[in-house]
Amino acid sequence: MSEAMIIADNIKRGFPSGGGTFWALGGLSLTVPRSKLTILRGRSGSGKTTLMNILGALDQPTEGSVILDGMKITDMSETERDRIRRTKIGFVFQSVALVSMMTAYENVEFALRIANYPAELRKKRAEECLRLVGLSSRMKHMPQELSGGEQQRVAIARAIAHSPSVIFADEPTAELDTTTGLQVVKIFRDLVESEKATIVMTTHDVGLMDVADAVYELEDGVLVNV
Ligand SMILES: Nc1ncnc2c1ncn2[C@@H]1O[C@H](COP(=O)(O)OP(=O)(O)O)[C@@H](O)[C@H]1O
Ligand SMILES: [Mg+2]
Repeated sequence: MSEAMIIADNIKRGFPSGGGTFWALGGLSLTVPRSKLTILRGRSGSGKTTLMNILGALDQPTEGSVILDGMKITDMSETERDRIRRTKIGFVFQSVALVSMMTAYENVEFALRIANYPAELRKKRAEECLRLVGLSSRMKHMPQELSGGEQQRVAIARAIAHSPSVIFADEPTAELDTTTGLQVVKIFRDLVESEKATIVMTTHDVGLMDVADAVYELEDGVLVNV
């Protein structure tokens, strides 16, 4: 358990481009510590999303390996990786993708169903997660009745509900104003402290670096300042 949550070794990701290959990631290695908030920072196009998708088993690298919570996810079949994603990983995206026909509570409860969380525990866990993000009083609201920041907090509650090993958040503050964005990051900070969550977040906002335990900076698909 003392090992890092994620160990990524020499990750390369190429995309076909004009008869050749465009290397979005040019061979980078990093570790993500357990129970910490790690930030992947870099300009638009630097490779943050490509890297996060590989660390989170959504995409496979062209070369290199990823060990997540002791499991070599880059050697797994698509079926195995799908199971890892559903049970071990929580995702929060830039644009909040809540189910518009469901209340905040139902959105979180639905995620627990998908993760095969025990039926008799779902209600308690969904309520607990909405409390953790400060939305106890908004549980019965539909997404369109909530502010952008509140919707993102529901998305966070949904991502943490099945107690994943790692939470990945790709530019979760990009569509929020500065104050609301800071509130969202503060929730991540609190989750690291109170729940011992492991969180990896991408951002191009240099104003958010203070809250991180570890920062990796990407430039043209490689790490700088490491
Ligand atoms: N599926 C793809 N096909 C071709 N090029 C891609 C694909 N995904 C990303 N890229 C390219 O890889 C680079 C990094 O993209 P991305 O990881 O989305 O950067 P960031 O998230 O830092 O903005 C960009 O130049 C982008 O155009
Ligand atoms: Mg991106």
